[in-house]
Amino acid sequence: MKVLVIGGGGREHAVVHTLRKSAKVDHIWCAPGNGGIAAEAECVDIAATDIESMVAFARQARPDLVVVTPDDPLALGMVDALEQAGLRAFGPRANAAVIEGSKSFAKALMRKYHIPTADYAVFENSAEAIAYIREKGAPIVVKADGLALGKGVTVAMTEEQAVEAVRDAIDGGAFGGAGARVVIEEYLTGPEVSVLAFVDGKHLKAMPAAQDHKRALDNDEGPNTGGMGAFSPSRFYTEETAKICMDTIFAPTVAAMAAEGRPFKGVLYFGLMLTPKGPQVIEYNARFGDPETQAVLSRLESDLFDIFNAVIDGRLDETDIRWADNAACCVCIASGGYPKAYEKGKEITGLADVTGSFVFHAGTVQKNGKMLTSGGRVLGVTATAPTLDEAIAAAYADVKKIHFDQMHYRTDIGVKKG
Ligand code: AMP
Ligand code: GLY
Repeated sequence: MKVLVIGGGGREHAVVHTLRKSAKVDHIWCAPGNGGIAAEAECVDIAATDIESMVAFARQARPDLVVVTPDDPLALGMVDALEQAGLRAFGPRANAAVIEGSKSFAKALMRKYHIPTADYAVFENSAEAIAYIREKGAPIVVKADGLALGKGVTVAMTEEQAVEAVRDAIDGGAFGGAGARVVIEEYLTGPEVSVLAFVDGKHLKAMPAAQDHKRALDNDEGPNTGGMGAFSPSRFYTEETAKICMDTIFAPTVAAMAAEGRPFKGVLYFGLMLTPKGPQVIEYNARFGDPETQAVLSRLESDLFDIFNAVIDGRLDETDIRWADNAACCVCIASGGYPKAYEKGKEITGLADVTGSFVFHAGTVQKNGKMLTSGGRVLGVTATAPTLDEAIAAAYADVKKIHFDQMHYRTDIGVKKG
């Protein structure tokens, strides 16, 4: 079988790498792919958001399955366009991907179906938003409504910070159209857990929980990023918590989307906070998380190609999905300066010395036999081991073998393991 994977980050590398383990898959294209994916798939130089060119390529190449993983193409209707062209596509249609693409949609859905989440209000007018902040007081959280690469959230510890975030988003256009509307919500506390789940429109199978590290610097300091590292499982996510999440969050969300005429098929990502009042939803994503996927898929024992097909055909309830009884840790290596301005084109050395991990590539490109940096997050060094402590140690042992000018990584991935 032939598969086309759309995207070119660490998450897509993990999907490609895992699909290659399937005996049924004999060819993979990845568009656009990256310098590391090129070793495992045929990279095709089409941007993940270029729907027209992607559909034209797929019509001609005729993959048996197309996997759409990044948020932008999903929100733009890549799956709808592929289906209209008669192709089998894994991922939610645009009308379901809106659960990530619009935070105000997600919040309204949760309110309507009584799914636990922070109390909130939505504003398009900065004066009204500021009045609301003054009424509620700090700490308080301001979120751009649309997709902002994980950077549209301000957790304001003072009213002034919240007011500034509103002015930047609504009046200053800091996030373009994504910030013209803001969601202001109650500040919650507690450990954060990411649960990714396969969903086939009706049924849901949760993957083992993971924990992300969103801040750029050690001790959760510095600006929010797309994610600086992840590990799985989470010690906070007990069987009891998993059951509460299934009953109060996961199953109700799948049912709510179906009831709204937006059946969700693909991977639904629940960003949860385990608050003193119980688990609450911080965010939904309509896709695999990055870098959680690198950690979680490293633990999958079943055939990912079979799972994707079961999701498309609505047969997830009959599909057995097995996970290794182990732990995984992914440490991201980023370009110095990320998530703000950073330089590209730095030569990466030491990759051949890595022994105990698998290195997923995120922002790399191959040129004249050299591997160069080409993005903010560059590599995700991922190790599995019987215990989390061993997985963390193995990943960091390999991180230390890799070098490029101004490279940056957190030294405490997994430290807050509970
Ligand atoms: P998001 O992009 O929605 O995942 O938010 C980014 C980060 O902001 C989350 O991982 C949390 O650490 C934090 N955050 C978001 N919403 C809240 C909230 N209501 N209360 C406290 N922290 C939050
Ligand atoms: N790691 C968080 C995300 O993928 O949105």
